[in-house]
Amino acid sequence: MNKRVFITRQIPDIAVEMLRGKGYSVEIYPKDKVIPRRELIKTLHGGQYDAVLSLLTDTIDAELFNAAPSVKLYANYATGFDNIDLVEAKKRGIIATNAPAELSSEAVAEHTMALVMALATRLVEANDFVRAGRYEGWAPMNFVGTDFHGKTIGLVGTGHIGARVASFASALGMKVIYTDVVRNERLEKECSAIYCASIEELLPKADFVSLHVPLLDSTRHLMNEKRLRLMKPTAFLVNTARGAVIDEMALEIALRDKVIRAAALDVFEFEPKISKGLRRLPNVILTPHIASASIEARNQMAQIAAQNIVDFFEGRTPRNIVNP
Ligand code: GLV
Repeated sequence: MNKRVFITRQIPDIAVEMLRGKGYSVEIYPKDKVIPRRELIKTLHGGQYDAVLSLLTDTIDAELFNAAPSVKLYANYATGFDNIDLVEAKKRGIIATNAPAELSSEAVAEHTMALVMALATRLVEANDFVRAGRYEGWAPMNFVGTDFHGKTIGLVGTGHIGARVASFASALGMKVIYTDVVRNERLEKECSAIYCASIEELLPKADFVSLHVPLLDSTRHLMNEKRLRLMKPTAFLVNTARGAVIDEMALEIALRDKVIRAAALDVFEFEPKISKGLRRLPNVILTPHIASASIEARNQMAQIAAQNIVDFFEGRTPRNIVNP
């Protein structure tokens, strides 16, 4: 029988072409917004779909599995998969896959470095100032920033993305220190990275702290009030991982009280909600979860997500199963 795939929002055409090219029937949620929960449940309940190409903004859980017993595979169009209840899926023999595109690690690492540089040079504040018509001529102390060259970047997590950030930072003349559950000897050799046995050891030494861990029970609120206080008062915090890795209220207070100098966030604890307090602070750069949004990365992610579906339907083990 013709396989049926539901895609929860428009993604790059390459995925749709791949799936339709295989003769599958593909339906896509037609509106360019997150499909409302009730609508997702209703659509899957009535659709007799075999697979769903889901997004990180869709909560994939027991309620959905109950509503859609025909769906045997959820192929997430994201590197992260904290939106899927993996244990519940496993219990029911449902497969979940992610899309860990090499190019999205690259894009996220590039965005991270853009944030590091924007923090150091006060680029966003300066841009806002000029646009507001407040520029009255060169002034010696206008938007004095800080060099990043020669400074220490502390990486929390050195998987694909953290390792890429390490090599960019090192190429820009930054010293790299890192903490992870395992030592990364390649990084130590290639980037002269220095291992810290704990985050507590890393935080007081870093001028820039960048987070590159997945969201797990063990990493939720990893950056809490106590750990923010371990950072230098002159230090910057960058988060392109997952919002809830930081206790966002504690960060807002730390930024307000100048416990740390500034932060740059691409992800938020209660995304897409961002507190008014955070939005009003001048010492934080906010980008709307776009770190992996290069066209190259997004095309490759779409291709990987679709390939996982094709492999599954053609009797091969999908390459990116996250609940083996
Ligand atoms: C983006 O955040 C992703 O997980 O791909």
